[in-house]
Amino acid sequence: MSVELKRGLEGVLVAESELSHVDGEVGKLVYRGYDIEELARGASYEEVLYLLWHGALPTREELDAFAADLAAERDVDDDVLDTIQTLADAGECPMAALRTAVSMLSAYEPEVDADPEDFDATRRKGRRLTAKIPTVLAAFERARQGEEPVDPDPDLSHAGNFLYMLTGTEPDAVSEETFDMALTIHADHGLNASTFTALVIGSTMADIYSSVIGGIGALSGPLHGGANQDVMEVLYEVDESNKDPVEWVKAARDAGRRIPGFGHRVYKVKDPRAKILEEKLRDLSESSGDTKWLDYTTAIEGYLTEQGLVENGIAPNVDFYSGSVYDSMGIPMDMYTPIFAMSRVGGWIAHVVEYQEDNRLIRPRARYTGPKDASFVPIDER
Ligand code: ACO
Repeated sequence: MSVELKRGLEGVLVAESELSHVDGEVGKLVYRGYDIEELARGASYEEVLYLLWHGALPTREELDAFAADLAAERDVDDDVLDTIQTLADAGECPMAALRTAVSMLSAYEPEVDADPEDFDATRRKGRRLTAKIPTVLAAFERARQGEEPVDPDPDLSHAGNFLYMLTGTEPDAVSEETFDMALTIHADHGLNASTFTALVIGSTMADIYSSVIGGIGALSGPLHGGANQDVMEVLYEVDESNKDPVEWVKAARDAGRRIPGFGHRVYKVKDPRAKILEEKLRDLSESSGDTKWLDYTTAIEGYLTEQGLVENGIAPNVDFYSGSVYDSMGIPMDMYTPIFAMSRVGGWIAHVVEYQEDNRLIRPRARYTGPKDASFVPIDER
């Protein structure tokens, strides 16, 4: 039987999903039919989680109860905090530390032995994980700085509490709102590489912790979530070289370098999430009076547009602006991808539960191109 080979599974449909849709031709993203721009401006991360996990936007009452349940799960065991300190002391990078900590959290999961087909239990486990990941990340960052962890505050929002645990100070309204918006727009994005990884693991009916650990691993790569850190490294590289950003991007293109934050497997036009964050960066820059990153990103995008890249489908993606927004909020560079994970975990869980409810083991094939009929020679005769 001849089967068409699709490298990178490009364009291959492997599942049906009601969760999110990416229209790469017009640059539109919806979560359960709602446009990302409206959700970013009008809904909190908690509301978006509810929408993804429970199928509809919550009423005020439903949201209050849901947010309280989520906030009540933020504490992590002292043993996990000790391990986080050990990882920080050993110089582990935050994505690897997060992967290890999530693995350890499963040892403290009260429903670890739940039936894999008890999807309510999977949702509860997912809720615990989503609540605890910010605690893990903030504790790791503080441990690296030689600081004690800050206990979560159940009265703060998911976004506000993370910034509070990171700095020890309650964030101002603009920072909280900006960060919440960043979480909202990163929460889901169709069958991207990390979500697909989570789904492949989930399709074996493995537990949700394994899916999330797999998702973290896939997200850490520079072709996926790691690109936001790469963009910021480029902006600092430009800044430290005292070069004009256009000169830098021209030299990078001449050297055949890929420009991080540009290009996308699905979007052939500017990513709608990039547009939202660009606007946020503009607001933050104008209110602080420091427009450096905005100027650099605008210059790089302008040059690549002039060179025809954008017209040819290599347009800014979400990562092109997220780093500058986080940097403007004083967040360290190598925390950008973990923050992406802290949001995307909501999407991973939603997809895994949706898939497992009508499960089929994911098992593609590779076209074998190795030798046929090789004659085996015993080891001492080779
Ligand atoms: N800069 C310059 N050229 C690029 C870029 C880029 N960022 N991205 C793609 N291209 C070019 C490739 O060189 C290739 O050109 P060629 O056909 O002349 O060789 C062409 O565009 C197609 O590239 P592919 O790698 O085949 O496209 P693919 O769909 O696999 O790539 C990807 C998508 C991996 C995201 C790519 O655009 C890339 O590496 N971008 C930089 C990293 C990045 O920003 N990743 C974040 C993605 S968004 C996210 O995960 C949240």
